[in-house]
Amino acid sequence: MATAGIRVEGQPQNLPADHPVVRWVDEVAALTTPDAVHWCDGSEAENARLCQLLVDAGTFIRLNETLRPNSFLARSDPSDVARVEDRTFICSEREEDAGPTNNWRDPRAMRALLGDLFKHSMRGRTMYVIPFSMGPVGSPIGRLGIEITDSPYVVVNMRIMTRMGKPAMDEIVKTGEFVPAIHSVGKPLAPGESDVAWPCDPDTKYIVHFPETREIWSYGSGYGGNALLGKKCYALRIASVIARDEGWLAEHMLIIKVTAPDGRVKHITGAFPSACGKTNLAMLEPTIPGWKVETIGDDICWMKFGADGRLHAINPEAGFFGVAPGTSMATNANAIRTLYANCIYTNCALTDDGDVWWEGLTKQPPAHLIDWTGKDWAPGSDKPAAHANARFTAPASQDPAISSDWEDASGVPIDAIMFGGRRTTVVPLVREGFDWEHGVFLGSIMSSEMTAAAFGTIGKLRFDPMAMVPFCGYNMADYWAHWLEIGRKQGAKLPRIYLVNWFRKDAEGRFMWPGFGDNSRVIEWIFGRCSGEDDAVATPIGLLPAPGALDTSGLAIDDTALAALLAVDPAAWVREAAAIEEHYEKFGSKLPPQLAARLEDLKRGVASA
Ligand code: OXD
Ligand code: MN
Repeated sequence: MATAGIRVEGQPQNLPADHPVVRWVDEVAALTTPDAVHWCDGSEAENARLCQLLVDAGTFIRLNETLRPNSFLARSDPSDVARVEDRTFICSEREEDAGPTNNWRDPRAMRALLGDLFKHSMRGRTMYVIPFSMGPVGSPIGRLGIEITDSPYVVVNMRIMTRMGKPAMDEIVKTGEFVPAIHSVGKPLAPGESDVAWPCDPDTKYIVHFPETREIWSYGSGYGGNALLGKKCYALRIASVIARDEGWLAEHMLIIKVTAPDGRVKHITGAFPSACGKTNLAMLEPTIPGWKVETIGDDICWMKFGADGRLHAINPEAGFFGVAPGTSMATNANAIRTLYANCIYTNCALTDDGDVWWEGLTKQPPAHLIDWTGKDWAPGSDKPAAHANARFTAPASQDPAISSDWEDASGVPIDAIMFGGRRTTVVPLVREGFDWEHGVFLGSIMSSEMTAAAFGTIGKLRFDPMAMVPFCGYNMADYWAHWLEIGRKQGAKLPRIYLVNWFRKDAEGRFMWPGFGDNSRVIEWIFGRCSGEDDAVATPIGLLPAPGALDTSGLAIDDTALAALLAVDPAAWVREAAAIEEHYEKFGSKLPPQLAARLEDLKRGVASA
């Protein structure tokens, strides 16, 4: 470390002064001028010291050691409670490479702006250097990164969400490869100025990606995916670009291992937009006897072809950053069991006995709470006690349903891919793509309703292809082309592709499908299809379960309701096809012709149905 006047702690012995990592850290320190630089080793001792520092600073409240050992509650600034999509930028050299679904800025202009923002941005603070691995250290599918941050809250969260510390740094020294990610909360301290519990810049936030140079810069927010840069910024936006260049897939998908009563195993991934119950599905407890679902990942999936021609997947993360409200023993018992200790809670409510609470955790709220803004709260209040986006950060290893192969460095072979949106009308419970190309078509037309639909109509749709709109680091049409290219790989043994929809409603506005553990019934059908069962019927929109193929025994769903859940209404599909056409128009001439052709097939099919 050459930067004069800055205290340095923990610099690894095996890093020569002219190593590119040291040079980069020096450069960032010279720009941001922190008081100290701390190189993180990821140890228990370091973590304990940082947690205490956060308690002393008022950022963390230590929870009741008996009820929630080694767990902490943080309350964010009310201006800093979620990912900020409108402040997220893809700064590719050419605007067309970011595409119509991303915010683009000229990289030179953005670099100049970031240079000004980060100048002295860490004054009065410690700058932490966090080496991390996405995926098991040394995995041929995993990747390395270094996040520099002035937030100790970020350090302790990154320690749960990634493999962070010395083993990752040793691997970086060995391979010389890492994605640099720079984060500042954007609140420099003047000499003598006292800090606030949740430093951030309430007015200015930038979450910036340079796909060509594979760099991440984040300013102004301390929250979630804005600040824990291994997650959405690296594992999806930057990794999607690396995956395109190298012929693999970086996806916004859960990964599960499914075991049938006879012991046969399949691995299935699932892409769902935010707030569609992905963590619940990743930890599902099947309601059908003898079936087992185990978790490999709940949010992100990296898949590479193995020597066997199959796609092998790892979960690049090591923890869950789950939405707390709505999580309960009834909706996701395994998540509740995961949270027994060693977790960080953000923007949950605090109980009088030093535990956390959120809406939905128990049927009856406690008689008194401190809400996520730090104020007294009682049942009947017109405001929720926990913020709607309150989160838990939990080690994946604590999930009682975690699969024994979740850390398999060579990944698990994938049999099926599920896509799913939130549609109250039109889209059936499940359908299978005719082939890979049609499956890519199904992923590209995934949508959710933004406005309520009157019965028999379609509400205003938000298309979120492959659940990647907020997370694709390049032009979505080029991303589809990449998916199609994956399907053309010589010798590939490709997964089957499904589009599911748990959210259909009847004329009275009631959900028609029970969801949660009963989604195992759809998974059972998918499992059977992947084992060669011939129990599907062809329709213009895809292959649907044949009559009797879906096990609904014990459910309060009669034949009429099941028929409605699996119905293909040609008139509604004519309107749906028009909405898809409009969605595709945004991509102009970049739209892959194969997808345009599949839309024409759909239109022809439903017109003559
Ligand atoms: C998430 C998201 O937090 O997708 O995982 O928004
Ligand atoms: Mn997600």
